[in-house]
Amino acid sequence: MPAFPLPRLPRIAYGGDYNPEQWAPSVWAEDAQLMREAGVNLVSVGIFSWAMLELRPGRYEFGWLDRVLDTLAKAGVSVCLANATASPPPWMAKKFPASCAVARDGGAMFPGSRQHYSPFSADYRRCALALTEAIARRYAKHPALAAWHVNNEYSCHQQECHSPAATRAFRGWLRKKYRTLGALNDAWTTAFWSQRYGAWDEIWTPRRAPYHNNPAQELDYARFWDEGCLDLYLAERAVLKRHSPDLPVTTNFMWPFKPLNYRRWAEHCDFIAWDAYPDPHGAPPEFSAYGHDLMRSLRPELPFVLMEQATTQVNWRPINGLKRPGQMRALSLQAVARGADGVMFFQWRQSQGGAEKFHSAMVPHAGAQTGNRVWREVTGLGVDLEALTPVAGSGVKARAAIVFDWENWWALELPSKPARIDYAAVVADFHRLCFRRNLTVDFVAPGADLSAYEVVFAPALYLLRAADAKNLSDYARAGGKLVVSYFSGIVDEHERVALGGYPAHLREALGLVVEEWDGLAPGTTRRVKLPGGKTTAGAEFAEVVHLEGAKATATFAEDFYAGKPAATRHKFGAGQTYYLATRFDDAALARLLDGVVPRGAQAPAGVEISERRDGRRTFTFVLNHTRAAVTVPLPRAAVGTTDLLTGRKVGRRVKLAAFGCAVLAAR
Ligand code: GLA
Repeated sequence: MPAFPLPRLPRIAYGGDYNPEQWAPSVWAEDAQLMREAGVNLVSVGIFSWAMLELRPGRYEFGWLDRVLDTLAKAGVSVCLANATASPPPWMAKKFPASCAVARDGGAMFPGSRQHYSPFSADYRRCALALTEAIARRYAKHPALAAWHVNNEYSCHQQECHSPAATRAFRGWLRKKYRTLGALNDAWTTAFWSQRYGAWDEIWTPRRAPYHNNPAQELDYARFWDEGCLDLYLAERAVLKRHSPDLPVTTNFMWPFKPLNYRRWAEHCDFIAWDAYPDPHGAPPEFSAYGHDLMRSLRPELPFVLMEQATTQVNWRPINGLKRPGQMRALSLQAVARGADGVMFFQWRQSQGGAEKFHSAMVPHAGAQTGNRVWREVTGLGVDLEALTPVAGSGVKARAAIVFDWENWWALELPSKPARIDYAAVVADFHRLCFRRNLTVDFVAPGADLSAYEVVFAPALYLLRAADAKNLSDYARAGGKLVVSYFSGIVDEHERVALGGYPAHLREALGLVVEEWDGLAPGTTRRVKLPGGKTTAGAEFAEVVHLEGAKATATFAEDFYAGKPAATRHKFGAGQTYYLATRFDDAALARLLDGVVPRGAQAPAGVEISERRDGRRTFTFVLNHTRAAVTVPLPRAAVGTTDLLTGRKVGRRVKLAAFGCAVLAAR
């Protein structure tokens, strides 16, 4: 495991977004002082500062930022400096109206919120790169600088643009991809519904239409959008790298977030940074664990940074519940447990005005008073993270993998399907199964090297290229355990069905053929008989499966397919494959895959145990995500070690208060 990718930080990064432009200069000195008090060592500055840095086109004003960065440097707080391109100033929309994104119905966005620009606008891009250049030239060598933060949550609010520039770019992109209209017509199956194109300028981005747009066109548009945003990021990144080749450059990701194929972006980020906002009332701890595991898996060789989270409430859900005492700490340490070497917040100081004034921050409206719970927890977490310095740079090893593919996500959730399958939710079923067994999971591409994993899940892998199907089959043939769920292996990369019996390219490996399927309306189910005679209910999808070598491990118990397989097992080469022909609930899934999915450490419900390791030591994180105190028996590696958070030695078990945490390691 390489050292932490922020070379100027010798320990776990701690801090948040810092927006000093919202405050009078007199507040900045207090900020720096309070940051020291809280143990903050890294802040992201300038993310939404464009309008304050370029007051009029081409007229930069850096004086205030100079002062802010100098103050932070003096206080020993490092900076992840934004290139400030996340939201263009109002003058841009006035001077270049075509810089605003255009929605599917042709309506343009206006300034007054944020991120209203089109990534395909040449004017936006030129101005953004000029600003980046000016910032890089001025600050690349500033002593406070630890990293660059490019733009902000690309595509968070704008996930399409249909402007003339975007349309032209789409046509150019298609031309490059298909070279001939014949190839495009073939890939898009335009023989259907009289859609054959005779000229490139007959093609539009998928706009408002009377009925379904061509799914291959939609899928290509999703790819085009992703690549367009990535291209913008790469251009911004290139400017920064030219001025400071050694400073890490990143941008902040989100989860669950469909529009951008982060696996492709990840290779261009010097470390992965992401923003986690689990609903403190609605989301169980496995939800944030899912995000951390996915983000870590994008660059498994590097620690990642939790770039944003809320100290307590957000402002943007219809109802915004708070994090209970201790909950923010437990969720922060969960990020570290799963591979984060940075814990940051949106934002440092709670805004007085603007749309996010009721979003929590490290310094609340009341100010930094010791009696204030949020501030107390913020300073407490600073102490905890300092105590976890030895963890920085250590790695996470997973025994299981879940195939996760953005292209599949885009294709699977296009309309006109047998059922509405929520890909992220179906994948979550399998992650949750592993989470509850304290089994660490990586998320992998369908073509990834799978040889290190004891079990690999491929849920609802609807879009599956032949080569990727072969990769999955080869993994099983060589001795792996492959679990595939319904509606997998159905179409190729152009949304064309692989003919000859579903799931064409996985048929041999699974030892079965799917003849037809039934999309089940919400709330309706099909009874399924489990091994041992118990019954359960299959939801969402039910397939009529014929065995071709596989054995049924569960069967449907109603409808005309009663007696047909609902789950199967197949010996394939030196390995085994498993197929699930419906959506099982957690209990049934655990039962069906009990012998298939290994177990990690035993822990009471709601308690998470996971490990990080370096060459020398194992760090065992024991996190109580419940509102009750628990006593947790420790895995062997943790018995007799020391809790880094308290400095106390532990025996065979550890007692944790509500939301209590321990991080155990040999002294
Ligand atoms: C996102 C943005 C921040 C802020 C937070 C609020 O993560 O990056 O600027 O708006 O949401 O939760």
